[in-house]
Amino acid sequence: MSLAIDHPSGRARAARKHDESRACAPVVLRGRPLVGHLPELRADPLRFFTRIARDHGDAVELHFGFDKVLMLNNPAMIRHVLQDNRLNYEKSKFYDVMRAVLGNGIFLAEGDEWLSQRRTAARSFQGCQLRRMTAAMQDAVGDLQQRWSGLAARDAVIDLIPEMMRLTLDILMRTLFSLRLDDQYAEIFQALTVVLRDAERRIWSPFNPPRWLPTPRNREVRAALRVLDSFVFGMIEKRCAERAQAGEPARESEGDLLDLLLDNRNGRSDRQICDQFQSMILAGHETTANGLSWCCYLLSLHPESLRRLRSEVREVLQGRPAGFADLPALKYTRMVFDETLRLYPPLWTFSRVAVADDAFAGLELPAGTNVMLNMFAVHRRPALWDNPEGFDPSRFDPQRKNSQRFAYFPFSDGPRSCLGERFAILESMIALAGIVDRFDLQLLPGQNVEPEPMITLRPRGPLLMRLVPAPAA
Ligand code: HEM
Repeated sequence: MSLAIDHPSGRARAARKHDESRACAPVVLRGRPLVGHLPELRADPLRFFTRIARDHGDAVELHFGFDKVLMLNNPAMIRHVLQDNRLNYEKSKFYDVMRAVLGNGIFLAEGDEWLSQRRTAARSFQGCQLRRMTAAMQDAVGDLQQRWSGLAARDAVIDLIPEMMRLTLDILMRTLFSLRLDDQYAEIFQALTVVLRDAERRIWSPFNPPRWLPTPRNREVRAALRVLDSFVFGMIEKRCAERAQAGEPARESEGDLLDLLLDNRNGRSDRQICDQFQSMILAGHETTANGLSWCCYLLSLHPESLRRLRSEVREVLQGRPAGFADLPALKYTRMVFDETLRLYPPLWTFSRVAVADDAFAGLELPAGTNVMLNMFAVHRRPALWDNPEGFDPSRFDPQRKNSQRFAYFPFSDGPRSCLGERFAILESMIALAGIVDRFDLQLLPGQNVEPEPMITLRPRGPLLMRLVPAPAA
């Protein structure tokens, strides 16, 4: 997609040099009386925020009805919130709509409860664990290749989004919970989709009926939550029974994330374990699927990049699946993925609220200030990036990479950054290598591919691709 940014303004260009010490009062934009910027937000949030970051500089106060947010577009300011003074910034009220499904799991928890969950789950994402999970990731990609081979032989057309969703859910289940979904896949996927879409509608709609009202949508969401709960509770029960059987040989699932959660219960109920489980699925499923879908889409538009990526994959892997040790050699593959996440960060915006008064870089933030960090806009800010709208993987060449860490933060940054970052990169490299080696994904002409900015940034509507066998080496 091109946001057709017309004239990078002089003000944005002047902001090219970012200096922490420079005083900077926020630009205040009130929008229209009463509604503020709600109309622009509802019409086209991506274009709106990108324009604000381009034209109004480092810190911009925006009004939306009765809400007010401070949008930070300067890497040093973003670092302040995510790292330097991160204890003063908690998840804002905009996350509340997720509580129905995530409870007080890692994504929403704060303070000691968050730290305890983070420490436990982090053990599942250490290098040795990732190495152990590689085989399951390769198996899931192998199953996809097998399914696709039959389709490619017939030049079939696929919708890439559900295909990638299926792959990433399959990988999460196999690696973290030692489970093959097979028969239950459709039901679980449908239930996840219903609860996520409901949360998205609630975030973006100013009027939401209370959850207890028996509206058709509330009833549908309740039914979906029941499906998810009974699936997870059933799994917990089964695992507890397996663990209780003394004298059994080591279980295949021994030491996976579910085991870790049960080993470190610290008095947590099954409901709380279930929240932790669902948080991990929701954090790790659609995000990676969107990253992969956007990456395949961009490769279909840039045949030169596809050729280079494919020849790297074939040279490094010689027909075998990618593994943990291959990552450093798959340099161009990684550059393409990084550039994809710059243009289409799967979690495209997020926010925090200041717990106590704070002051930095000339800004004064009273307690209660909502701060917005919008990767989509910052990643496309002309003050920070040359040719910001263009697809150019070479900007992520390790030799000449943009060194401004907080100008590029698709996984967030600081202590509360994405716990699954290395996992997501590993599975994406394995999947991309497996896909380009065997298949050509050709975008069906006539489609208007637009990003749909909900909680995640996915392509709007189907992303139809003709699947054909890749040219021989
Ligand atoms: C390309 C894929 C992914 C992207 C772009 C991504 C991005 C992010 C971002 C931006 C956050 C911070 C959100 C916030 O502060 O509100 C986050 C948090 C998180 N992500 Fe990811 N994520 C991805 C994949 C994954 C995967 C595969 C997993 C797990 C297997 C995962 C697990 C988590 C968890 C548990 C958190 C919460 C961390 C905490 O609060 O301590 N993510 N992710």
